[in-house]
Amino acid sequence: MSASTVRITIDGRKLAVMSGTSVAAAIAQAGAPGRLSCSGQRRAPVCGMGVCFECRANVDGCPQQRTCQLPAAEGMVVLTDD
Ligand code: FES
Repeated sequence: MSASTVRITIDGRKLAVMSGTSVAAAIAQAGAPGRLSCSGQRRAPVCGMGVCFECRANVDGCPQQRTCQLPAAEGMVVLTDD
């Protein structure tokens, strides 16, 4: 790991991403499938600017976080389907 990367865990998978990477981008980089809607549809980021709420995930124990608005931080734990 270099000073310009941070290590995060997404659905149990550890990875290093560039500092400043959004959590939504890190989820995509990890190849994580994203959350399921109430009706069972797989969801993914749409707007990338905090409006659509399609990128929600549990981040460090806080549910329903808009991951497109959160920069990845060292030690962050993300659950995409929670
Ligand atoms: S992608 Fe739309 S709120 Fe995050």
